[in-house]
Amino acid sequence: MTEEALSSLLAQMTVREKLGQLLQLTPEYFGHQDDHTALTGPESIEPLPHSDRGYVGSVLNCTGAAQTRTIQQTHLNLDRNHIPLLFMADIIHGYQTIFPIPLALACSFSEQNAQTSARIAASESAAAGIHVTFSPMADLVRDPRWGRVMESSGEDPLLNCRMSAAAVRGYQQPSAQEPGVLAACVKHFAAYGAPEGGREYNTAELSSCAMEESYLPGYQAALQAGAPMVMAAFNTIEHIPATANIPLLRGLLRERWGFQGVIISDYNAVEELIAHGVAKDGRAAAACALNAGVDIEMMSTQYLTHGEDLLRSGKLQEEELDSAVLRVLRLKNSLGLFENPFPQPELSQEDARLSAMRHAQTARRIACECPVLLKNDHLALPLQPDECVGLTGPFASERHILGAWSAGQTEGISLWEGLSAQFPHSQLRLASCGSLGSLLDGMEDIAPLSEADLRKQLQDCQKVLVAVGEHPDDTGEGASKTNLRLSPRQEQLIHLLKAMGKTVIAVVFSGRPLELLPILSDCDAVLQAWFLGTESGSALAEILLGHVSPSGKLAMTFPRTVGQIPVYYAQLRTGRPVRDGLRTRYASRYLDCPNEPLFPFGYGLTYGTCQVSGLSVQNDCIQVQLCNTGSYPVTETVQLYTAQKTASIARPVKQLRNFRRVPIAPGEQIIVTFPNTQALYCYPRGGKQVFEPGSFSIMAGLDSAHLLCATQEMTQAHFDQLRKDAL
Ligand code: BGC
Repeated sequence: MTEEALSSLLAQMTVREKLGQLLQLTPEYFGHQDDHTALTGPESIEPLPHSDRGYVGSVLNCTGAAQTRTIQQTHLNLDRNHIPLLFMADIIHGYQTIFPIPLALACSFSEQNAQTSARIAASESAAAGIHVTFSPMADLVRDPRWGRVMESSGEDPLLNCRMSAAAVRGYQQPSAQEPGVLAACVKHFAAYGAPEGGREYNTAELSSCAMEESYLPGYQAALQAGAPMVMAAFNTIEHIPATANIPLLRGLLRERWGFQGVIISDYNAVEELIAHGVAKDGRAAAACALNAGVDIEMMSTQYLTHGEDLLRSGKLQEEELDSAVLRVLRLKNSLGLFENPFPQPELSQEDARLSAMRHAQTARRIACECPVLLKNDHLALPLQPDECVGLTGPFASERHILGAWSAGQTEGISLWEGLSAQFPHSQLRLASCGSLGSLLDGMEDIAPLSEADLRKQLQDCQKVLVAVGEHPDDTGEGASKTNLRLSPRQEQLIHLLKAMGKTVIAVVFSGRPLELLPILSDCDAVLQAWFLGTESGSALAEILLGHVSPSGKLAMTFPRTVGQIPVYYAQLRTGRPVRDGLRTRYASRYLDCPNEPLFPFGYGLTYGTCQVSGLSVQNDCIQVQLCNTGSYPVTETVQLYTAQKTASIARPVKQLRNFRRVPIAPGEQIIVTFPNTQALYCYPRGGKQVFEPGSFSIMAGLDSAHLLCATQEMTQAHFDQLRKDAL
């Protein structure tokens, strides 16, 4: 449709019809049943009166080609304007083929992985009638107590920008082999990932510097990659809930960043303005959100209920309402819905079979790049083809390992299944210890252990894989925790295995960094598995058996203890740093714990032995030599950091500026080159990039804590030259 056609459509709509376009509900509200709908808010659904059912503009979390088609058809019969519904859903890490959770994916430090997995998710879910995904979640996270860190790309702004933008490209750019697009809705604007105390839905208290430098760039990168929608966050910022935050939504998003797409509220968040205490009733809540620029109200009906009255009383201007509706109509139009409101034709059985196979292979390859090897003493890993290996722990044969937001899918390949398919069965011993209960159900541990049984079942094996972690339901939305340790019986199990003299290899399934210090000395090796999706067990088996080397790097710091949180690598300098490890009293430190985390950002071992050397900074590039002196072909991630020694505001001790995944063979030496660009030397302030001449540290290495360092004096002339070169 042309822009004129959209305007004339708008002109013929009644106010109630316009308000309907701004309403998003699950199918239950207008008389359809969908057992897969995820309800993440109040569950008492008051069906819409029959007379209003034709007005709804979009549908939340309804999936499946047949279901979406029926609902669309019913709607088109009811709506005299024949404006098709938009189907939006949380397609977060896959639809049919489930990929690693986003935090795990970020550990691969691979934009290609983010793009490819998003592409496949788009092609599978578009075929099931979905038009928009509520992804990527570009919330920066630095507190693993928050359950939704699993949905993020971790603690670093650069990594977050790259992964979020790559996901948008993946969702929105079809390929010949993977057709079908989803429009991406970036969320949760803004700073939902920084709730105080890690407690879900809590307020975010951040300085404007932290917002600008760390928390906002991820959303902006996703928008620059072309995302046409933004979801407002649940939390308050500057004491105003994001849903009613005029400076944030109008001032920053629309005016400064020039965003012209659709803003949607989060689930029931318009109505929740009353609980926030910024609106006295539903009518005031609708006025606040509409005036702040929230176009679509998700899962509450204040716009429809009060919109006409707000217009009559002058609390809402008709032009504002029209602009919001026009944005929704434009989105529908850009997705081609006016021409074809129905899902793509279903694939033939043969096509579906082939693409399922292809997707499984890709999911497995990607899942192999996400686990992070945290410890590997005494060559515990990889397992050797001739040894007898025990497998125990609550995740040993667990198939419920997809993690939150798995689009209704529930099971992946278990570790036992993966190992059995790739390792001689006669050499594997499974010592079952039952499954792990969820905190949500009040059953947070495994059943009591029988030491005698364990001894008997594992008597032939020197090495024992112990698959432990947190229950997948205890991650994701509404899953904040104050205790990040493994459950007491899991810790006991590991201790017992060590006491039995076994070589203990822990495989940790979790959606967040857990507190692993209590088990570390009892483990010879620790592999952080995360939740890897459909192909989980197969990918883990490949790594454990050494068919591929682990290559993941931590996208989030692992604390020693929950008391250190927030602990992240890019902290600001302090006036009293701990110097040379000296334990003086009046320094910025704890009396009972080092400042250093257990494992730093960017950390992860491989089966090779790689070193960096010879860091050199040239006018146009920065080079460092990588060499693999071990006997395994591996992939290393070389990381480039900078720090400014003196500036007019305090600067982080270091910041990631670039990274590169490099496959490297045994004995090989590679020169890794990064462009020397102006971006390495500036920081954002007041909407501009600021450069202050002076001395910079340029650092390179294989994690954020162990870096080679060179000093670079940057003059204004040199900076200007770099800026010119970039043009
Ligand atoms: C979550 C969003 C999600 C929405 C719809 C909310 O509770 O915060 O991330 O997109 O539900 O399911």
